[in-house]
Amino acid sequence: MIDLESRVLRAYVVQPVLSSDRAYDSDYKLEEARRLAEALEVEVAGADLVALREIRAGEYFTSGKLDEIKAYINSHDIDILIVNTSIAPIQQRNLERKLNVKVVDRSGMILEIFGLRAATKEGKLQVELARQAYERSRLVRTWTHLERQRGGQGFLAGPGETQIESDRRMLDKRISKLRSQIDDVRRTRELQRKQRQRAPERVVALVGYTNAGKSTIFNRVTDGDVLAKDMLFATLDTTHRLLDLPSGSKAILSDTVGFISDLPTDLITAFRATLEEVQEADLILHIRDITDPLADDRRDVVMDILRSLNAGPEHGQPILEVLNKIDLLDDDESESEVNAARRLLDGDDHTGAIGISALNGQGVDRLLMRIEEMLGASDEIIHSIIPPAQFAARAWLHEHGEIISEQMRDNGVMDIKVRLRSSDAGIYRSKHSDLIAG
Ligand code: GTP
Repeated sequence: MIDLESRVLRAYVVQPVLSSDRAYDSDYKLEEARRLAEALEVEVAGADLVALREIRAGEYFTSGKLDEIKAYINSHDIDILIVNTSIAPIQQRNLERKLNVKVVDRSGMILEIFGLRAATKEGKLQVELARQAYERSRLVRTWTHLERQRGGQGFLAGPGETQIESDRRMLDKRISKLRSQIDDVRRTRELQRKQRQRAPERVVALVGYTNAGKSTIFNRVTDGDVLAKDMLFATLDTTHRLLDLPSGSKAILSDTVGFISDLPTDLITAFRATLEEVQEADLILHIRDITDPLADDRRDVVMDILRSLNAGPEHGQPILEVLNKIDLLDDDESESEVNAARRLLDGDDHTGAIGISALNGQGVDRLLMRIEEMLGASDEIIHSIIPPAQFAARAWLHEHGEIISEQMRDNGVMDIKVRLRSSDAGIYRSKHSDLIAG
């Protein structure tokens, strides 16, 4: 728990609504903002939509709205105002002065959550780098747990102007140090990834909007023990486990950070490395919460991020949509939704999507079969005749493929049939065209 002067901080969450915004969306954005704020482990004392005719350069809100916000803050003992949009540094500072509470915008909030959740060394370094870059761009200190641990004047005290210059120098130094630390960790990770690539297992990457159920699926189909919580961004680092497929073959399943709309640019860059693994996956599983009223918008966000990572169908990577949480659809749901879910369960949907409940296991067997099917779709069977002098080729096949049959002929020549990924089959054919049978 965040604890300042022995009490949990109280937050007021506001979602600005401009006349151009769809009213329907605003409610869900506010709900998401509330959940994000809860992930900060502060007490959310209230959450409201704030309709705005225009955005003011100085303090973002018009003065009438500002008075209302101030009244709420004063009467509810609020410590932090969370504004679920991007606000300029100067607006943030002016608001803090006027309201005498800490003001956090959407980027600041997401950075803070990422900071709390990052578990691996690289994850922590990346979040720290993103935060330093964000702070530098604002030249005001964000509200960090670290800062309070350092002690000092408490979280409400902003830095003085002379402080800003030394802050800037300090941040620059810290940023370049972090960059070189990240480079080191990345080199190690790259090495590990290369080693993994040499393994014959295919890689399946889970992607999805935050809270769609990735970790729950991950835990259900592997022996993994990934934190699955009804809390946004419960997981922040990529985790890998072996996945047993129905026919006995294995794949590597990787769980990634949850995607979210309006992810701070600094964080997208910082997390690109974590998500790079997605680029190299043989199959992407896009986990979607079918009960989310904004499910279609969420899909667009995920697909946009995949595109920005040069991953996904446009880059030749197969993707399987997994519609999760079908257990929550009951008779009260609209007829069409129930039918859609049933069709999915029957495997009848023309999009090829699969409906499952990661919670109770419904549909999971079919999901695993489909994964196996899709992984095998681009495999090739190579039949090779290898004389003893070239047994290095045999070793290569054992290392890269799944042996279907292998027989030693009388003259010591090996007759081998092996299933290979199409990329590996291409490599083998180009190196050993003389050893291919038929
Ligand atoms: P991030 O870590 O934020 O990316 O979330 P995630 O996609 O990993 O979601 P997670 O697995 O943590 O699940 C989020 C919440 O949804 C948890 O409360 C789960 O128990 C719940 N949940 C996941 N799958 C199902 C499901 O099939 N049915 C129901 N009813 N709830 C589910």
